[in-house]
Amino acid sequence: MSESAARPLTAAVVVAAGKGLRIGGDLPKQYRRVGGRAVLTRTLAALASHPGIDRIQPVIAPDAADFFRECLADLEPDLGRKLLAPVDGGATRQQSVRAGLEALACGEAPDLVLVHDAARPYVATDLIDRAIAAGRAHGAAVPGVAVSDTIKLVQPIAPGIGRVHETPARESLRAVQTPQAFVYATLVDAHRRAVAENRDGFTDDGALAEWAGLAVVVFEGDAANRKITQPSDLIDADRTFSERADAV
Ligand code: CTP
Ligand code: MG
Repeated sequence: MSESAARPLTAAVVVAAGKGLRIGGDLPKQYRRVGGRAVLTRTLAALASHPGIDRIQPVIAPDAADFFRECLADLEPDLGRKLLAPVDGGATRQQSVRAGLEALACGEAPDLVLVHDAARPYVATDLIDRAIAAGRAHGAAVPGVAVSDTIKLVQPIAPGIGRVHETPARESLRAVQTPQAFVYATLVDAHRRAVAENRDGFTDDGALAEWAGLAVVVFEGDAANRKITQPSDLIDADRTFSERADAV
């Protein structure tokens, strides 16, 4: 049996259809350049250069085809070969993931799928290794990092004020990231059930999978794998990627 036949066909869905409202500006954050290349180009390059990922399904906003084409122009041609044509996302992250999953069903369905945020360009090879291994072993696996702040559960009672309900034990808390790995057929099924039951707005696939009754495990994430969310994150990323380029 060849090596490729021995391992599961693995796809990645990269959700890039958000508007980046917290960062603001005319251009959504995934198309902003950091160290000379768009955030999305960096994310796609990181995933495509991993030998365990066979194909990548980008999900973009319907009006972003030109921006996406510009991203592709900056991607090494050998990496671009793993990319499928982008599909349109939806109004919520959950809808965008579903669009990517359904698009993958049109071709040879993968065994395993990684779902990743376009806004996480720092994703490293060893984190992808862990995602694939945990997804294969457990069927539904999300990366998490220990939290350093104490977290409170609150209910808003006035603008900027929340009543504290509970302080969960910090040792048991994890801040969850992407890439999240699932048996493809199981995640598609969970998404279809969510639509059938009018459930929308899950902010990650781990939460949707839990809702669907799947046992989800957390594997070791990577503190460096931050999501570009606030304006300062773009400034940091520009500095980090510029320094990396200088170092080569
Ligand atoms: N995303 C998506 N479709 C949506 C909403 C989000 O594909 N309707 C993607 C984003 O492009 C991003 C990832 O999901 O790569 C994580 O979302 P987030 O960081 O919240 O990005 P935005 O929704 O774009 O940002 P904001 O919440 O600040 O508007
Ligand atoms: Mg958002």
